[in-house]
Amino acid sequence: MSVFECPFVLIWILIFIFIVNPTASVENDPSQCVLTGPGLIPNRIVLPARYFLIQSTERCNVSQVDIIVELKGLSEHGPCRVWTQILDRRDGSFIVRYKMFQYCDDMEIHVTWKGHHLADSPYSYKGRVYAESCDCPLDSIDEMINDYQCSVNVAQIDHDLNQFQNVDFNQVLTEAMKRFSHAGSYSFCHYAVLDNKVYRRCYGQHVGFNMFMDNILLSLSRKAVLPDMEFLINLGDWPLVKKNILPIIPIFSWCGSTQTADIVMPTYDITEASLECMGRVTLDMLSVQSNPDTKWENKQEKAFWRGRDSRRERLNLVKLSRQRPELINASLTNFFFFRDEEKTYGPKEDHISFFKFFDYKYQLNIDGTVAAYRFPYLLAGDAVVFKQDSEYYEHFYSDLKPGVHYVPIKADLSDLVKKIQWAKTHDEEVRKIGINGRQYAVNHLLPKDVICYHAILFKKWSQKLKNPIRVHDQMTLVKPSNSTDKRLGNCQCLKKSTHVEL
Ligand SMILES: *[C@@H]1O[C@H](CO)[C@@H](O)[C@H](O)[C@H]1NC(C)=O
Ligand SMILES: *[C@@H]1O[C@H](CO)[C@@H](O)[C@H](O)[C@H]1NC(C)=O
Ligand SMILES: *[C@@H]1O[C@H](CO)[C@@H](O)[C@H](O)[C@H]1NC(C)=O
Repeated sequence: MSVFECPFVLIWILIFIFIVNPTASVENDPSQCVLTGPGLIPNRIVLPARYFLIQSTERCNVSQVDIIVELKGLSEHGPCRVWTQILDRRDGSFIVRYKMFQYCDDMEIHVTWKGHHLADSPYSYKGRVYAESCDCPLDSIDEMINDYQCSVNVAQIDHDLNQFQNVDFNQVLTEAMKRFSHAGSYSFCHYAVLDNKVYRRCYGQHVGFNMFMDNILLSLSRKAVLPDMEFLINLGDWPLVKKNILPIIPIFSWCGSTQTADIVMPTYDITEASLECMGRVTLDMLSVQSNPDTKWENKQEKAFWRGRDSRRERLNLVKLSRQRPELINASLTNFFFFRDEEKTYGPKEDHISFFKFFDYKYQLNIDGTVAAYRFPYLLAGDAVVFKQDSEYYEHFYSDLKPGVHYVPIKADLSDLVKKIQWAKTHDEEVRKIGINGRQYAVNHLLPKDVICYHAILFKKWSQKLKNPIRVHDQMTLVKPSNSTDKRLGNCQCLKKSTHVEL
């Protein structure tokens, strides 16, 4: 073959690759899809359900039916046992999530579309990948924060903790008992973490919610050796620490308000949903993103709301919806606080699945006894949130901007009708607000973020304490509950697995 023929051969090869071979067409090149998320570094980030995102791009357009996700590797009794799910976000992206039931050695993740690997698949991990149930903590919380790539500077945490320096916890305890332990009208717990063991003593009549704090502390303690610390947590709805009663004492609460100084943590609701993702809980920050039915264009242009009667404005909303059924579909699903008004505002309606809420474009977030803990899910779903002005807030509200992430409405709902009418004539603008809200939720409120928030909060809190930590009289050791127990397989902990940098 002469040297002159060579270019022709090359050209024919190129022609074959780009034109004849359809699988390598420039228009749809699976390697150009983008895969991101903590589920792709399972050797560093342990989660109850790990997850990552598949994003289509201009050059990679894939559909769910042809995506296959396989996890390979070896565990104690043979191949690793893993349960996977793919959720369609209906915007060209897909959430893959998987739950491991034991450890997995030399794990590989294969993500293919019509038999072709997406992005950098297959991903492989040398050493041991732990399941959530494995009690194999890293040496320190700092190591975990680093491995999990948690954002360390969280404005709300700094705001809450900067109120306190050099805390004498014995004094805190005395003061809290004086204010809150009488007649059992408040419910709170005193936790101590010492040598990565969790102890608590609770006060009050309704302390069942301590299981949520137990669960997150135990989950964290399996991931990293926690700093020694003591703290008080309020199990009630209302924040407790009035700003005008001095001294201000440190108490952790699930809800904050402008009138109070409580240290805010992610609500028990989103925390439990993060820990029980692909478990006991069906509505979580990942599942809520899958939209089985309705595209934006096909959604009803109305505001939708369902809930119980835990605040007067909720009754007013129902009244408003009866006056303007073409704009608002709102009903109460339960009467408890205003039973005597059921005749006027009832009858109560059956619950409908939260996923069906997103058949409507406009979602209403109206306070209940305190902040409505559904807000994260409303943001993450495919709609736009109309949020009532309120003194109450959750751990992330201070990041959000009215008009950017949600449509603000007045506390007394007096501008609600006007705002809905505005939305109906500004569809593109409103759609953008919905997308911003959703993007915020995806970037800041997923299970890893919720776990990170706790890790950072506890780390920074532990540094505020001045006395040595001790286990107090009548504290009990917190043990894993039965449900987690069952999943606690035999997880031999190896020395820290060799980290493969991707
Ligand atoms: C992706 O492919 C589907 C059908 O295969 C098509 O309907 C859709 O328009 C494509 N999307 C893009 C962005 O090319
Ligand atoms: C309100 O919404 C529910 C659930 O989508 C629907 O069944 C009902 O017909 C709606 N009511 C009105 C008055 O549109
Ligand atoms: C936990 O499991 C044990 C044995 O399986 C059982 O005896 C016990 O009642 C269970 N405890 C709870 C709280 O379910």
